[in-house]
Amino acid sequence: MLYPLAKSLLFQMDAEQAHILTLKALTRAARCGLVQPGKARIVQPRTVMGLSFPNPLGIAAGMDKNAEYLDGLGALGVGFVEVGTVTPRPQPGNPKPRVFRLPEVEGVINRLGFNNNGVEHLLQQVARTRYQGILGINIGKNFDTPMENAVDDYVAALRRVYPHAHYVTVNISSPNTRNLRELQGSDELTRLLTAIKATQRTLADQTGRYVPIALKIAPDLSPDQIDAIAKLLIAHGIDAVIATNTTISRDAIAGHPLAQETGGLSGAPLHEMSLAVVQRLAHALDGALPIIGVGGINSGARARAMLDAGASLIQLYTGLIYKGPGLIDDILQTLA
Ligand SMILES: Cc1cc2nc3c(=O)[nH]c(=O)nc-3n(C[C@H](O)[C@H](O)[C@H](O)COP(=O)(O)O)c2cc1C
Repeated sequence: MLYPLAKSLLFQMDAEQAHILTLKALTRAARCGLVQPGKARIVQPRTVMGLSFPNPLGIAAGMDKNAEYLDGLGALGVGFVEVGTVTPRPQPGNPKPRVFRLPEVEGVINRLGFNNNGVEHLLQQVARTRYQGILGINIGKNFDTPMENAVDDYVAALRRVYPHAHYVTVNISSPNTRNLRELQGSDELTRLLTAIKATQRTLADQTGRYVPIALKIAPDLSPDQIDAIAKLLIAHGIDAVIATNTTISRDAIAGHPLAQETGGLSGAPLHEMSLAVVQRLAHALDGALPIIGVGGINSGARARAMLDAGASLIQLYTGLIYKGPGLIDDILQTLA
């Protein structure tokens, strides 16, 4: 209702500033009771990764990198929130400007580069929140950790976040950390998943609590690569896969004046690619583990398409920038 007005003001600001302002306002409103924190709507509730989700719609990683806005995001009625990507140590990310709106196509290009305040800060924020819903924590490597030590960063972050998360996402698919996506190759992924799984087993024994782990993959994978990843996920007993992150492809926005900006493209132009990856994964996995579908969901119809393609849960980010919080109601109404 109010969002078209807010949007016309927000879209006159730098994209990153507008983002922070919006989330701060939402979180303040939730903290002073203007909107109710933690009221997830119950629509098509389901158990995925052994967790009970009040509805299948969640907030994707990157919206709240430091878990500073959980009270506000929790008030939107979503079934879960994924915070991060968080790295073991704080890091500033890439020089600004690094987020670009493409309103003509309802897309965004970002090259943030895992800007975040580090895992310790994130855990302090999680400890303070009133949000009681399902919390995913998405982990990555620091930009200056050499690729040969990447596994150490994931293991270190997993150890810290494990006791505080309902599930943990291992993000190897951001295009904005140099060479990160090489971890999707079979040898590298085998090494990573072996270490992650061993750490999960140890932590489950130590804490008496099994926290499921999801792997987040890119849309820029060939069908053969998707099949190979699916096999490894099954072989290693990974609990879920999130498809997809942003794309480096510009096919869907060829000729757009911002098409040549470096970074990952999200939003409406990504949808067909993400959907195709989810379909291929669903075929390759054949129900062995659940898929969380994300990419360009900006309507009830697209949410339904993602679920029909084989996703058990869905997430969104860019759609919220263009449609506002009403999108969540629209989607949940379509699914009801
Ligand atoms: C500004 C921005 C920052 C993002 N940061 C992260 C991140 O830190 N970690 C991550 O796994 N995905 C990140 N993403 C990707 C989203 O989680 C999501 O996978 C992708 O944008 C596709 O969904 P959408 O089209 O609904 O935005 C980011 C996306 C955007 C637009």
